[in-house]
Amino acid sequence: MCGIFAYLNYHVPRTRREILEILLKGLLRLEYRGYDSAGVGIDGGNGKEWEANARSIQLIKQSGKVKALDDELTKQQDMDMDVEFDVHLGIAHTRWATHGAPSPVNSHPQRSDKSNEFIVIHNGIITNYKDLQKFLESKGYEFESETDTETIAKLEGAFVLVFKSVHYPGEAVGTRRGGPLLIGVKSDHKLSTDHIPILYRSSGKDKKGCPTLPRMEQDTCHTLFAEEKKSVEYYFASDASAVIEHTNRVIFLEDDDVAAVTAGRLTIHRIKRTAGDHPARAIQTLQMELQQIMKGNYSSFMQKEIFEQPESVVNTMRGRVNFNDNTVTLGGLKDHIKEIQRCRRLILIACGTSYHAGVATRQVLEELTELPVMVELASDFLDRNTPVFRDDVCFFISQSGETADSLMALRYCKERGALTVGVTNTVGSSISRETDCGVHINAGPEIGVASTKAYTSQFVALIMFALLMCDDRISMQPRRREIIQGLRVLPDLIKEVLSLDDEIQRLAAELYQQKSVLIMGRGYHYATCLEGALKIKEITYMHSEGILAGELKHGPLALVDKLMPVIMIIMRDHTYTKCQNALQQVVARAGRPIVICDKDDYETAKSSSRTIKVPHCVDCLQGILSVIPLQLLSFHLAVLRGFDVDCPRNLAKSVTVE
Ligand code: F6R
Repeated sequence: MCGIFAYLNYHVPRTRREILEILLKGLLRLEYRGYDSAGVGIDGGNGKEWEANARSIQLIKQSGKVKALDDELTKQQDMDMDVEFDVHLGIAHTRWATHGAPSPVNSHPQRSDKSNEFIVIHNGIITNYKDLQKFLESKGYEFESETDTETIAKLEGAFVLVFKSVHYPGEAVGTRRGGPLLIGVKSDHKLSTDHIPILYRSSGKDKKGCPTLPRMEQDTCHTLFAEEKKSVEYYFASDASAVIEHTNRVIFLEDDDVAAVTAGRLTIHRIKRTAGDHPARAIQTLQMELQQIMKGNYSSFMQKEIFEQPESVVNTMRGRVNFNDNTVTLGGLKDHIKEIQRCRRLILIACGTSYHAGVATRQVLEELTELPVMVELASDFLDRNTPVFRDDVCFFISQSGETADSLMALRYCKERGALTVGVTNTVGSSISRETDCGVHINAGPEIGVASTKAYTSQFVALIMFALLMCDDRISMQPRRREIIQGLRVLPDLIKEVLSLDDEIQRLAAELYQQKSVLIMGRGYHYATCLEGALKIKEITYMHSEGILAGELKHGPLALVDKLMPVIMIIMRDHTYTKCQNALQQVVARAGRPIVICDKDDYETAKSSSRTIKVPHCVDCLQGILSVIPLQLLSFHLAVLRGFDVDCPRNLAKSVTVE
């Protein structure tokens, strides 16, 4: 939700053209976080003295996607694109509007005044912005935009900020609370350290007893580049995908860290030290590869990510599931598994698709752990002030690891003493850092706004956890073996489902002009219905509803007639007979159901207007195979309806506001 990017070169000569290219490329990589508008703030002058240039800041902002900003930049005739800057700081932003409609004036960077004295880019929400605005207006400040960002001087809420000022040429200051910010570091020189110690503000008072201005404890002042004149480039970014083509060495900032780059040196500051604070931030080496964030031969990231699923589920299991001796190892949980086995209940907390992964695996978790399992939408969980106890174990399932509602729920559960477990796809994310332990799903970067491969990997990760929980239960061994052998063949079965793509494209061609699609199923496939309907809603803008087939006769059956498109999921598991009843109820109302069923289920085929036949696997994994046709269907429907599948309207990938 909003992408932050900044680039600072220190003694690495770069032309303005190169700097703008770096900024625009960074924005393009972050575009999936918001694409209502975009802007950059760069040094304005064209002279030889970099300090003089940096004392005039130029803002270029545009509504629409990054391409619109790029077009606007090519129109800027008065900027010398070939002027070379030895030192330069440029900041850039791609916006998902919360306060103020998308427009150039509401785009970021926002500025302190018309002379661009201070400029700032922001991701998050300043919740007290109205009070701040009133107060500042009473002091004579003028506001030109409708954004909360303009009031940043005194804030409450969630924010990630990067500042630039004419008064501090070549300096960058960035901070975060409740949203992600990392700093990439690139240098031809060997880095002088692999961690940056935190500098704490002195708590001195002056003669009148007023707190003194922030002063850093110089004796503990370590910086990344202690020696003058070493060339270095810094990249501030909302996530790693924007920096990986430049460097794989990054520092993840924590909430309330303030990072400053001055004269090419990076320092990290905090107001005061509190118990449990880590005294340094490590410089980490990312394992991500550039090709993972490129589309390759696919038309969209979503399509690429759907087709990556045979490999992404393998990556989730890699080094964790041993198919020879039917064992599961999860390094991130090993120190806590005994405690989890003794807990009162498991609570799975998440939003959207990640919530559906919890719904999809609840039954097998209940079966294998023999514990009560609650599945909760994070926002509702918080609204209800749900009772949480010290002997609860709370799972936070999140692809991004940054979803604000899930993060708030995590902090709520921690305050109540529960053990917290993260199931995330993003190394270094807030949820992975703030939970007591966890599992990385290792699905690789997911860029398409509609989540696909993260869902199937979350599904597999939760099943691996369930298997681990009962590994010493003799009575469970036959079932464990059945599921583990099911995991072994899963990648091949996913490939088989993906080979139905042409058939599903033909089905999409028949359905794309419809207004609505109902998706019905029960048991293991209720989650598939919810997830399929969410995919259709978010990228095709058609109405779609996932319906528990057991509830059909309690209301939704009234929607069924010969015109309403109905998709049913009927698999040979313990709900098969009941699903057949639902099928007959639909057919009796002149409905013409399209059924996703086992490939040798001729009985179901007789009552269906059309079938999508998927291979059979162990019941608790079948939901992975039944959801893929719906991922493909939503993709083809969106393409046929002429929409940009990777950037659905009004949505953004990482929802860092409540
Ligand atoms: C739907 C989708 C969203 C996310 C939800 C939670 O395709 O992507 O519903 O699943 O916003 O996001 P994470 O998993 O990052 O917490």
